[in-house]
Amino acid sequence: MSDAELPDDVGAEIVAPQPAALIETFRAIGYNLPSAIADIVDNSIAAGAGNVWIDFSWAEENSSVTIRDDGQGMTEKQLIEALRPGTSNPLQERGRNDLGRFGLGLKTASFSQCRRLNVITKSRQEGIINFRGWDLDYVEKNDVWRIFRYCNDEELLGTLNKQTSGTVVVWTIIDRIIFNQHKHIITPAKFWDIVKDVEEHLAVIFHRFIEKKSLAIWLNNRQITAINPFMPDHPATQIFPDETFENGLVTIQGFVLPHAGKLSSERWSANGGSKGWTAQQGFYVYRKDRILVAGDWLGVFRKDEHTRLARIMIEIDATLDFSWQLDIRKSRAIPPRMFQQHLKRYGAEIRKRATEVFRHRGKQQKQKTSRNDFEFAWIVSEDNGRETFTINRQHPLVKALYEHSGEIRKSTDDLLKLLEITLPVPSLILNETLKGEYSSGSMPAVKESEVVRLMQAVYQKLRANGTTHDKALEDLYFIDPFSNYPHLIEQIR
Ligand SMILES: Nc1ncnc2c1ncn2[C@@H]1O[C@H](COP(=O)(O)OP(=O)(O)OP(=O)(O)O)[C@@H](O)[C@H]1O
Ligand SMILES: [Mg+2]
Repeated sequence: MSDAELPDDVGAEIVAPQPAALIETFRAIGYNLPSAIADIVDNSIAAGAGNVWIDFSWAEENSSVTIRDDGQGMTEKQLIEALRPGTSNPLQERGRNDLGRFGLGLKTASFSQCRRLNVITKSRQEGIINFRGWDLDYVEKNDVWRIFRYCNDEELLGTLNKQTSGTVVVWTIIDRIIFNQHKHIITPAKFWDIVKDVEEHLAVIFHRFIEKKSLAIWLNNRQITAINPFMPDHPATQIFPDETFENGLVTIQGFVLPHAGKLSSERWSANGGSKGWTAQQGFYVYRKDRILVAGDWLGVFRKDEHTRLARIMIEIDATLDFSWQLDIRKSRAIPPRMFQQHLKRYGAEIRKRATEVFRHRGKQQKQKTSRNDFEFAWIVSEDNGRETFTINRQHPLVKALYEHSGEIRKSTDDLLKLLEITLPVPSLILNETLKGEYSSGSMPAVKESEVVRLMQAVYQKLRANGTTHDKALEDLYFIDPFSNYPHLIEQIR
């Protein structure tokens, strides 16, 4: 026996957890509704379900959520065991499709949203329906770990009866969903907004299952379409070579997604989600084909505007659950310290490539200068074989100057004329020849902060004239010198 082991005979008092106190604590694990639903869907996948039907029903205080699957179901004994908090040891090895780890998800995910959980199941083995549930008020009142056996939903029982097998998880008294933080009941509109968040979450988290058609998820009878965060099927998506680590247990692969201009507005908004593109950049951690973390730089980088097209897939094997600190909610993965250097190196490269999309787009935009409403700052024309340079009086900044010039209008005009007449053309040409730097299209060194300031002034002016936000940004691409700074235009967006 090693020194670390206790002798057999030192056992003292038993201090079992207080049911009333601990069950309330289960509610505070930090799920939100989408992650709680996903945890229930994990169990359906593990039970071999091909379909999961999720129904949200709004009826004020009597609102409910039902999650039904056509998996293998549970026998009575299995059902009772399934409701036990901590029904299996987290150290135990799991089957290939079993997304579980802690033996807690069904309970903790449910309690995070509701006060009553009922599980109704029909096992493939026995073909009999059984039901059991937890009621938090009962546990707290009686201070005992006792489940209940009750189900009066004839319709649900009938539906399940028609299936060969399956399981239904019913949440009622969904206080955490229907009351806001001020304990006021939410509006139906808000309720359905929350349901939309659930749809978006599931569409991303389980996209691989939906894509390979091993699972169909129905939300209030409408099938959820997968959202692949990497858009691998889009011709403008850049896919980079993958790298593997830890004897193949971790794989990472970078993607740079197409610029908004290359996407239909539908795809653009679906893939940006409700949080938008900047929020969705980052690492996407997969475990057993299910996404744990969707769009997070995991503390390695910041979410910058100019890197918002960068997304990196990280695939981790479930044997690494503990070193990557998988949590009960399956919404977290923290790379081991040693691994961070790989993420930093690979990630920096992909982020650089993502930034280049904007620069490249700048070049493309420049070619658009053939557009006849492009506003140059200078107009170059020929007069008796000599090039003359005039400041474009139609340029938005020049126009603004005239509008506000009032009694100094004449002086303003004189000043512009002065600049035009005294422009040191010969010395500019000489410089160009000597340095060979200002070849056509290249720009003199300008502080980006200056450009941003000017850009904002023009943007404000366009907005003041009634131009929409999107149109104003698009116009900036056709105004000198902003067309050379597409990444700065994107920052305003
Ligand atoms: N829809 C279902 N169909 C069949 N069995 C289920 C279903 N949901 C839960 N179970 C059974 O209940 C057990 C407990 O589920 P629970 O989610 O609490 O823990 P887990 O999935 O084992 O681990 P984790 O805490 O990581 O989710 C599962 O292991 C499974 O045997
Ligand atoms: Mg589970």
